[in-house]
Formats: sequence, C-alpha cells, structure tokens
Amino acid sequence: MNTQRENFGSKLAVILAMAGSAVGLGNIWRFPYIAGENGGAAFIIVYALASFFLALPIFYAESIIGRRSRANTFGAMKTLAPGTPWKWLGLITVLTPLLILSYYSVVGGWSIEYFFKALAFDFTGAPPDKISSFFGGFISSTWEPLIMHTLFVGATTVIVFMGVKNGIERFSKITMPALFVLIVAIAIYGCTLPGAGKGVSYLLKPDFSKLSGSAVASAIGQAFFSLSLGVGTILVYASYMRKEESIFSAGAYTTIADFLFAIIAGFAIMPAVFAAGIEPGAGPGLVFETLPFIFNQMGAAVPWLSATVAILFFLTILVAALTSSISLMEVGVSYLMENTRLGRKMATVLTGVFVWMIGIVCSLSFGPMSGIVIGGENIFGALDKLCSNWLMPFGGLLFTIFVGWKMSRADVRDEFTNGGTRSRGLFKLVYFLIRYVAPVGIIVVFITAILGL
Ligand code: PHE
Repeated sequence: MNTQRENFGSKLAVILAMAGSAVGLGNIWRFPYIAGENGGAAFIIVYALASFFLALPIFYAESIIGRRSRANTFGAMKTLAPGTPWKWLGLITVLTPLLILSYYSVVGGWSIEYFFKALAFDFTGAPPDKISSFFGGFISSTWEPLIMHTLFVGATTVIVFMGVKNGIERFSKITMPALFVLIVAIAIYGCTLPGAGKGVSYLLKPDFSKLSGSAVASAIGQAFFSLSLGVGTILVYASYMRKEESIFSAGAYTTIADFLFAIIAGFAIMPAVFAAGIEPGAGPGLVFETLPFIFNQMGAAVPWLSATVAILFFLTILVAALTSSISLMEVGVSYLMENTRLGRKMATVLTGVFVWMIGIVCSLSFGPMSGIVIGGENIFGALDKLCSNWLMPFGGLLFTIFVGWKMSRADVRDEFTNGGTRSRGLFKLVYFLIRYVAPVGIIVVFITAILGL
C-alpha cells in the first residue's frame, strides 16, 4: 500500500488540470457535430443550462467525496461508507474511465494521423475527392490506425508515469493556455472566410422547432461527457486538491472554461462548414472529414497559411485529447497504487497495456472486425454508447445520491465550505441542486433513453 499521496501545487494548477480533463475531444470533435445534428443555437441554450444546473452539482458531489476521503474512487467509498455496497460504485468507476480511454485513444490516434498529414502538407493541393475519401479508408485499414492508437496510449502513459506534479500538473499548465489562444485564433480565422456568416447565425439564432426530447437528452449527455463526470475523474483530481482551496471556484471556473471552449470550437468549425457548403449535421466525421477539405480549398488562395492553420488545428485537438486522456488513466492508476503494492510506474504501465489491448479491438472494429455488430453499432460505437449514455449518467446519479442522501449534511457542508470559511452563502443552493435537481435530471435522461424518445 502506497501511503504517500501527491497534491497539486496551487489553485491555478488544480483548475488547469480539471479544465484540461474537461476540455478535449468532447469539445472540439463531439460538440460541433452534436450541435449541428440538433439545430445549433437552441441546442446550445439547453446545453448551457444542463452544464450549470445538472453537471456542475455532480462536479461538486465528486469533488466533495474526493477531497473528503483523499483517496481513489474505491478507497473513497471504503473510507466514507465502510462495509457497505457503495464499494461497488468505487469499482465501477475504476473500470468505466478505462473503457472510455480505450476508444478515446483510437480517436486520439486519428488526430495524430491528421497532425502528421498536415505536417506533410497533404491537405494543401490534393484533389478534393481524395481528401474526403481518405478518412473512411484510413479508419477501416488495419495497421495505420493501430500504430497511431499505440502512439496515443504511449504518450498518455508517459505523462501519467511522471506523476501528479511533474506529469499532469506541468503538462496541463503549459498546454491549457496555449490551447485557448490557438482555438480563439482559429475561430477568428474561420469567421473571416467568405460565406461564414451563415455559420455564425446558425450558432446564434435559436430555432426551437428543432428541439426534440432526444435533442434535450443529447444536450445533457454532452454536458456530462464534456465535463468528465460520473466516472470518478473529477473525484480523483479533487483528492489531490489541498484543503484550503475552494471547491466552489474550481467547479465554476472549470465549467465556464469548458463551456467557452465548446462555443469557441463551434465558431472555429461551423462558419468554415457553411463557407464550404457542407451539412452541419454531417455526423462524427465532421471535424476529420470536412476540415481538411476546407484547409485544402483555402490553400488555393494562400498555401502556407492554410497549411499552418491545418497543423495548428490538429495539434490543438491532439493536445486537448491528451490532457483528458491522462485524467482518465489516473483513475485506474490511483486505484492500483492505493489498493495494491504496485508503485506509480508499474501501475501506469499495467493500466496502459490494459487500455491499449481493448483499444485494439475498438480500432479494428472499423475494419477487419466491422462484421461484429452490437445493437446496430460496431464495437467502438457500442462501447461509446454504453459508457456515455449509461455508465456515466449512472455513476453521476450515484455520486449525487451518495453526497445528497448518504453523507451527513454537516460533513458535506464542512467539505464544501472548507470548515465554514468559504462559499457559505452558496451552500444551500448547491446542496439543493445535488440532492434533488441533478438526480431527477439524470433519471429523466435515463427514461428518455430507455423509451427511445
Ligand atoms: N471531458 C473529456 C472531453 O471532453 C472526456 C472525458 C470524459 C475525460 C470522462 C475524462 C472523463 O474530451
């Protein structure tokens, strides 16, 4: 048993690491196409409400559990509710993030491939039909995506291997501000393209007629995925938070940063989509399939600029994905370190190998193993559905029930307010959201999903 626990070094480090976990493929790859499929601005309004009134309370619930127990998800349940079945929640939330990481790494691998292609100037000057058919050919091949997946898992493992302070904290501190500057620059560039105005009004003018029950459910699901909730990630990061820091502000800043990042990513992508006359509801391939095509078109005017934007854009996706993948891996690593005799290095390598192996199957499910279909989806799609539509909300629901109904109100208050010294005035509201609003909201999403509305 390894009893020496590390901590994040400062308030800024906590916020950047948490924001690093939240901001990822969910914002840049998932948000634009989900918003595009669900009507744009009206969806974004629901997404904003869901982020602040449903997701943020779960963020607080996980933070309270993590910092109170100072342990991994399993250890937290054993500390705060010894001898109860709650330990199963601790175990499920060790497994879910590793499952997510295995398919997340496949998409992370795609972004490495596209980054390399951008570096090789492949998008500048290639015939458009070659570019659009590339994505399908690439993901369905055997070796190339596997090599990229391996590189992505390898990079994640190396950072987590270095530990909380030297690895996670240092990496997030350098990359998060750079990422923000990059995405803002790309958004400004995207908005100046001829024909971009339609994309801008698509993001700003709500069309409530497109807002179906399932669009509302997708908005809530997106808020969950994007804020890394229900899988113990925020719990584990909060367990490295020092006692004097404010849980309220860590949650508020992370949620604001994550939300802003998604919106800015929308502005980086949607105007360009409209400028190129592409359908906003084109699906998961939106970023990978259409942007290189757009970069290529721009390249006709100013080749070096389009190549630079392409390189920066795929680098942005890659770095954002890495600051999220390390947070997913840390959940498994902290569990192994604190519940077995393994040290950080061995725990990281074992977790990496486990994730890599499941990821191989996910990657091959677009090619040689595409014949295996579960519920109409390949293995990758089925695993994504299982995790984001079921396991994440389920974990989130149980975390809020744990904090709202199992822990004593005095303990919850003590942890949230740092012993009655901070954010006291907000406690009542936050506690109400944790106890009632968030659980009811999640149950509604479940029912919507079960009934297939
Ligand atoms: N929030 C991350 C993203 O948007 C994904 C993630 C989910 C990370 C769950 C950690 C835990 O890409």
